[in-house]
Amino acid sequence: MTPAPRTRMQGALWGARRLDRAGVAAPRAEAEGLLAHVLSQPKHACYLEPDAPLTADETARLRSLVARRADGVPLQYLTGTETFRGLELEVTPDVLIPRPETEGVVDAALRVLAERRPAGPPVKRHQQAAVERHQQAAAVVADIGTGSGCLALALARVRPDVVVYATDCSAAALAVAERNARRLGLADRVTFLCGDLFEPLARAGVRVDLVVSNPPYVADEHLPTLQIEVRHEPESALRGGVDGLHFYRRIVAEAGSVLAACAGIVVELGYGQADAVGALARGAGFDVARIDPDFQRIPRVMTLAAPRPLIDAVQRADGNRRGRVLVPFN
Ligand SMILES: C[S@@+](CC[C@H](N)C(=O)[O-])C[C@H]1O[C@@H](n2cnc3c(N)ncnc32)[C@H](O)[C@@H]1O
Repeated sequence: MTPAPRTRMQGALWGARRLDRAGVAAPRAEAEGLLAHVLSQPKHACYLEPDAPLTADETARLRSLVARRADGVPLQYLTGTETFRGLELEVTPDVLIPRPETEGVVDAALRVLAERRPAGPPVKRHQQAAVERHQQAAAVVADIGTGSGCLALALARVRPDVVVYATDCSAAALAVAERNARRLGLADRVTFLCGDLFEPLARAGVRVDLVVSNPPYVADEHLPTLQIEVRHEPESALRGGVDGLHFYRRIVAEAGSVLAACAGIVVELGYGQADAVGALARGAGFDVARIDPDFQRIPRVMTLAAPRPLIDAVQRADGNRRGRVLVPFN
C-alpha cells in the first residue's frame, strides 16, 4: 500500500494518480471532488488549505471512495449529487444520473410553453389548492420516467405558473425525486405518480398540454458494451428493447390517453435514433416540429406537435374546458 496521504493536497494528488491508473478520464477533478465530499467542503478545498492535515478517518474514507471510483462506480453515486440546470439534485443508484444533454429537453419544453402562451404571474400560495392550480395554470406538463425528477423540477422551477406531473414505474426512483422536490422547495408544485408511462395520469383523469420524456433508449444488444459507469445505473432506466425504440413506440401510441387539445411532446433521442423516432411519430399522426442538436451536434431532442385530428377531437370532447381558446403551438 502507498503511504497514507497526510494533507489535503497530498490526498488529492494521491487520489488522482490512483484514478489515472484505473483509466478514469478526469482523474484530478474527480479526486478533488471525492476529497471535497469527504471534507464536506466546496470543490477545490485542497487549493484553499493545501497543507491542512487529513484525519485518519478522512484518509480512510478517501481511500475507500477512490477505490470504488477506480472500480467504475460513478462519481455522482459516491458523492450523492449531480447538478442539472443549476439544481443540486440527490442521486442514488436507483436513478439515472442526469446528463448535460438532457438539459436540452428543458430548453425545448420551455420554448413550446413560451410559444403556446406567455408566462403568467407567479402562482400565489393561497392559489395552490389542486383544483385552482389546474384552473389557473398556463399549462399542464407531464414528465414521463422522471428518475431523479430533473426534468420535472427544472421546469417547475422556471415556470411557476405551470402544473407539473411526474411519473415513473420505479417507486425507489420516485422516492429520490420526491426528496429532491422537498429539498428544492418545489414539493407543492410537482405531483409524483408511480406507474407505467401514462397510466397513472389517465387513471387520475389528468389532461396534459405537454409531455416531456427522456425514456430508456439503449438497444438490448448495446447494454453489455456500455461504459462501466453506465452499467452501474438502473437497467430499467436504460433498456429500450430490441431496437432501443420500445418506449418511443409506446409514447406516440399511448400519449393520446392524456393529451389535451394543443398538446406537444418533447423527447430526448438516443444516438442515431432521430429518423426512426420521427417515422414512428409521423406514423402515429404527429408532426415533427423540430429536432435540436446537443453540444456535440448530435440530433438529441425532438419536439412533436399533436396531430390536428387529435386537437379537434379533444377540443370537441372538452368543450374548451378552461374557457379559453386553445391553439396548437406550431
Ligand atoms: C433514461 S431514465 C430518465 C430519468 C430522468 N428523466 C433523466 O432524464 O435523467 C428513464 C426513466 O424511465 C423510467 N421507466 C422505465 N420504464 C418505465 C415505464 N414503463 N413507466 C414509467 N417509467 C418508466 C425508469 O425507471 C427511469 O427512471
